[in-house]
Amino acid sequence: MIENSKILYMSGQEVSDSIQGGKISVCVVGLGRIGLPTATYFANAGLNTFGVDIDSELVSGINSKEFPLKDEPGYELIFKNVIKEGKFRVTTDLSEVVPKSDVILLSLPTPMNKNNIPDYSTITSVGNQLHDLICKGTVIIVESTVEPGFIENTFVKILEGEDHKFIAGKDFGLGVCPETANPGQINNDFQNLPRLVGALDEKTKIIITKIYNHVFPVEIIPMINCKTANAVKLTTNVFRDLNIAFINELAILFEKVGIDISNVLEAAKTKYNFQVHYPGPGVGGPCLPVNSYQMINLAKTWGLETLQMVEIGRKINESMSEHVIELLKDAFKEKGMNVGNSNILVLGVAYKPNVRGLQLSPAESIISSLKDLKANISIYDPFFKNELVFGINTESEFLSAVLESDAIVIVTAHKEFHDIDPEFLKSKMRSSIIIDSQRIINQHSAKRAGLIYRGIGCEKA
Ligand SMILES: NC(=O)c1ccc[n+]([C@@H]2O[C@H](COP(=O)([O-])OP(=O)(O)OC[C@H]3O[C@@H](n4cnc5c(N)ncnc54)[C@H](O)[C@@H]3O)[C@@H](O)[C@H]2O)c1
Repeated sequence: MIENSKILYMSGQEVSDSIQGGKISVCVVGLGRIGLPTATYFANAGLNTFGVDIDSELVSGINSKEFPLKDEPGYELIFKNVIKEGKFRVTTDLSEVVPKSDVILLSLPTPMNKNNIPDYSTITSVGNQLHDLICKGTVIIVESTVEPGFIENTFVKILEGEDHKFIAGKDFGLGVCPETANPGQINNDFQNLPRLVGALDEKTKIIITKIYNHVFPVEIIPMINCKTANAVKLTTNVFRDLNIAFINELAILFEKVGIDISNVLEAAKTKYNFQVHYPGPGVGGPCLPVNSYQMINLAKTWGLETLQMVEIGRKINESMSEHVIELLKDAFKEKGMNVGNSNILVLGVAYKPNVRGLQLSPAESIISSLKDLKANISIYDPFFKNELVFGINTESEFLSAVLESDAIVIVTAHKEFHDIDPEFLKSKMRSSIIIDSQRIINQHSAKRAGLIYRGIGCEKA
C-alpha cells in the first residue's frame, strides 16, 4: 500500500493534486548555504519538508529557531514561519526521514582535494545509505554540482547497488536540478533565475518539473538529460573563471604600459557584445575554481590530456595572490621600507563581498606569503570579528585595526569598505601604503591624500 502512494507511481493528475494539496513529503539532505534556503522554500510552498544534516550543532540550532545564514537576506522570516508552523523538521538521522519521503533532494558538498581532484565522497556515501533506505517509488534529485556523466555512469549504480534491489526508472526516479544561485543573493536568485531539470526517464523529469514549478516562481527548463543539465552549470561558471583570468592577465600587462584597466573596461562595456569582468586577487568560493577543475577532470576521464584554456585560466587566477604581494613589495620599495617586521592589515578575508565564507579565498595565500615575509599581520573583516582565521585572531573594530598599520591590503570589496576615505587612512596609519586588489579606492584621491597606492590593473599613482 505504502509503495503505491510514492510519487513515481502516481498519474500526472495525482502528482499535480498531491503537490497542490501539500501531500508530498520532501527530504533535503545537506542544510548548508544552498540546502537550507532550498528546504525553507519547499516548506513555504506547503510541502511537508524534512531536513537532514550531519552537523548536530547546526541541526540543534535550527531546531531552536536560530537561522544560521545571516548574510542571506530575505530568508529569516520564511525560516521562522515554516519552523513555527511545523512544516519543516530537521534531524541528523537520515534513516528516520528517508522512508517517509516521496522526494529526496541532495544538496551535499562536492569540493576538491588538495590536488584539485573533485571529491564526490560525501554524495557517494549518502548514495550508499539511500540504496538501503529508500522505498519504491521515491524520486531522488541531485542539486549538488557534479561532472556531466556522474549521474548516468556512477551515481545511478550506487543507488541500484550490486544487488540491483531497485532499478532506476522502474523502482525509483533519478534526476538533477543543478543549483546556480549566488551566495549573498540566493533569495533573489531563487525568485529570478530559470532552473534546469534533467532526469534518467521522462516520467521523473515531468514530476521534478511539476514540483519545481510549484515551489519556485521561475521558468523551469526541461533538459534532454542529466549530463547536459550538469554541463550547463559547469559551462557558465568556467566561462566566468576564464574571463576573469583573461582580464587579470590584461591587468598585469596594462600596469606595465601605464593604462588603467578600469578605464578600458568602462569603455569596452559600451560595446553590445562585450561582457565585462573585473580583475582581482584570485577567484575563490565553493563554485568557480572547483567547477573549472571538474571540467578538467571530465576531459581527463574522457581521454584528453587536459583542457588547455581552462588549465591556463586557473593558473593565472591562482597566481594573482602573488601579484598582490609583488605590488606590496614595490610600494614598500618606494617608501624605502621592508615588508619584514612591518604591520600589515588585511581588509577582508571572505572569498566574495558581503558573504561569510572562506572557501578557497585568495586571502589565504596572500596571508601565507605575508607570513613567509615575516610581516606582522592583522585582519579586519566585518563577517569575521574576534575569530581565528588562517591562524590569526581577527580584529573587532575597523579604526583600531587601521591604527599602527604600515600597509593595508584590500582583498575583499565588502560594502563596509566602499566609503573608506583616503584622508582618514593617511591620518590614522603609521605608514601610508595601500594595496587595493579590488579597486575600491580612487587612486587619484589616494595620491592627493599622500598615500602610496597600488591597485591591480592600475598605473602607479
Ligand atoms: N554555495 C554556493 O554558492 C553554491 C552555488 C551553487 C551550487 N552549489 C553546490 O551546491 C552543493 C552544496 O553546496 P553548499 O555551498 O550548500 O555546501 P555547504 O558546505 O554550505 O553545505 C553542505 C552541508 O552538507 C552537510 N553534510 C556534509 N556531509 C553530509 C552527510 N553525509 N549527510 C548530511 N549532511 C551532510 C554539511 O554539514 C553542510 O551543512 C555543492 O555541490 C555546491 O557545489 C553551491
